[in-house]
Amino acid sequence: MARITAGIGCSHVPAIGVAMDLGNTHEPYWQPVFEGFKKSREWQKENNPDVIFMVYNDHCTAFDASCIPTFALGCAADFQPADEGFGPRPVPVVKNHQKMASHIAQSLILDEFDITIMNEMEVDHGLTVPLSVMYGEIPQDGAWPALVIPLCVNVVQYPAPTGNRCYNLGKAIGKAIKSYDEDLKVHIYGTGGMSHQLQYKRAGLINPEWDKDFLDRLTSDPVGLSQMPHIEYLREAGSEGVEMVMWHVMRGALNDDITEVRRFYHVPASNTAVGHIIFENHA
Ligand code: DHB
Ligand code: FE
Repeated sequence: MARITAGIGCSHVPAIGVAMDLGNTHEPYWQPVFEGFKKSREWQKENNPDVIFMVYNDHCTAFDASCIPTFALGCAADFQPADEGFGPRPVPVVKNHQKMASHIAQSLILDEFDITIMNEMEVDHGLTVPLSVMYGEIPQDGAWPALVIPLCVNVVQYPAPTGNRCYNLGKAIGKAIKSYDEDLKVHIYGTGGMSHQLQYKRAGLINPEWDKDFLDRLTSDPVGLSQMPHIEYLREAGSEGVEMVMWHVMRGALNDDITEVRRFYHVPASNTAVGHIIFENHA
């Protein structure tokens, strides 16, 4: 059967992707960020999965106001990189494990999570930057070292799903993956955040105390943390801080018995606090 061996939380700051694509990672501004991810990349090399289940959000690239699915599961054979601001990143096409994605779609819908099935979808920095952060530079004509099943969560247009809904969806995803009849190693990612606000009067807001407390509680009190109301994300972590609800999907998919093996936090990176955590999941 398939096994979830790790959960990874990771910011998706688009400028991190641009720094990698332009070869600027050794500049003084970026050096501490990439230094912080060095150990994670070593861990990733030693623990590379067959499949990554990537919980991320689209930024008006694949979707616009004409269609706003709360949860959209990528079931296409592959996903072309695209982006809303900087243009498509020069990274490889993202390839799916289509059979497993179909199994997860069936399991979730029969478990009463009415997700949208995407048989065609482009993916933006929300998905490609966490891959780049963990794998380093991959030539455009190369291949990502794992297959990727994308789950796109609406956190852009009000109303986003609650943390509780995300946590419970994570549980159902865990059940779906563990019931897939093939011996595959799977990692699940929760991406976005940490605190940041890109707009209006509080643009530039970052709250390191809140971010660090979120990481502590993600490890020690995930159920309690998932009960945090939206207004607290907005007030304490800024309007785009609500991206953090996606980390609850990842945490919900893990077992009770986990080990936090890596954590990294750095400010600033673009307009955002960069946060990163790795949990090993014990069967
Ligand atoms: C920034 C952060 C994001 O999460 C995003 O999607 C776009 C921009 C930023 O820090 O600039
Ligand atoms: Fe974002």
